[in-house]
Amino acid sequence: MSDKIQAIRGMNDILPDDLDCWQFLEETAAEVFRLYGYREIRVPVVEKTELFARSIGQSTDIVEKEMYTFQDRNGDSLSLRPEGTAGVVRAALQNGMLHNAVHRLWYTGPMFRHERPQKGRYRQFHQIGLEAFGMAEAELDAEVIALTDALWKKLGISDVVLQLNSLGTRVSRQRYRDALTEFYTGHRERLDEDSLRRLDSNPLRILDSKDRQVSELNRAAPSILDYLDDDSAEHFARVRELLDDLGVVYTVNPGLVRGLDYYTRSVFEWTTDELGAQSAICGGGRYDGLVETLGGKPTPAIGFGIGKERLIELMKIQSCCEPASMLDVYIVQSGDAAAKAGMRLAGQLRENGLRTLCNVGSTGFKSQLKRADRSGAAIAVILGEDELANGMVTIKELATGEQSTASMDQLVDVLHQRL
Ligand code: HAM
Repeated sequence: MSDKIQAIRGMNDILPDDLDCWQFLEETAAEVFRLYGYREIRVPVVEKTELFARSIGQSTDIVEKEMYTFQDRNGDSLSLRPEGTAGVVRAALQNGMLHNAVHRLWYTGPMFRHERPQKGRYRQFHQIGLEAFGMAEAELDAEVIALTDALWKKLGISDVVLQLNSLGTRVSRQRYRDALTEFYTGHRERLDEDSLRRLDSNPLRILDSKDRQVSELNRAAPSILDYLDDDSAEHFARVRELLDDLGVVYTVNPGLVRGLDYYTRSVFEWTTDELGAQSAICGGGRYDGLVETLGGKPTPAIGFGIGKERLIELMKIQSCCEPASMLDVYIVQSGDAAAKAGMRLAGQLRENGLRTLCNVGSTGFKSQLKRADRSGAAIAVILGEDELANGMVTIKELATGEQSTASMDQLVDVLHQRL
């Protein structure tokens, strides 16, 4: 026997039992997005590597060491998308959607990052997210954040915390970066190897360090909020005021810098204590400079991405995934004539909206009824030779074992009443 081929590390199968919960999440999110005026967009999973390098930033972990990058047969450098924003901006630009227009777009699909796999962190994972273009006002930031809050409520999720920060403009962030560099340079001896590397390339990322000594040092680091330009400070105050007014609870966390370079002004993350180290279920923020970086006219924008695996894990912990019953009716039949009648009846029931399986194969009633039990159907409809001759069927409620008879003509009505 040859070896079984295994899936790639960090890339998971999503099995039918779990998919009930995935679909509940997807349908609920799509419904909430629609209520806020968002429309779906679908973009390729593979893009030119340069798109991600220019958007996410050359010195970010994602671009430096996590992308699945390869040369295609033409010699072009391509990458599997590590996130959704860059592709959506490229598509909106390329399709001429951003000329003085307002767009609210949502998307979902697989993303790829070559990270060290662990619980809640995978190499193929799935995001559902949205991007809104053409509105610079704080009202939009508040609306987008309030939408996420509404989504958790609709899914039945509780005990998630909203962290909020402002990263200002590129200019104000450069001033903050200089101050941070000076601060960390003065405490070089307390930095671990990773932070020392980041000191030159991306000092803001040191604020995210998990190293104990560096975390302690970070408490004394300058706060980005002291370096905001006046307009950004005003914008941030307005976002907070609007969230307060909408009753959306948040914590201001000046250490929240996010792992992608395109952000300006508001950034946010929703976290939970219930998932261990990978605690962020949703992250996003404003990126007013990205469209221009990618060759478009200056266009304000904001968005977020939800990690579906993490959110589903949390939904399971909090019992938010209803076990969906997959079947209504299982038809049990015996004999050639009954097999034909069973298939015709199954078609008729399906036409009337009843999810129906007709037993395949000629086993006895007893083993068919066992299969019916295991199928998850609510009702078994039993077709025997005698019943067929009289135009009658037996109905068995699988939960209680209660049996009754009904005429074929009235079966659809009777089943609808019972289900
Ligand atoms: P992100 O914070 O990199 O942002 O990812 C968003 C979410 O995706 C995270 O909060 C997490 O739940 C999930 N996630 C990220 N990496 C993994 C992984 N390796 N395994 C499982 N889940 C993961 C973005 O991607 C931005 N594009 C969000 C955005 C949209 N900002 C503006 N618009």
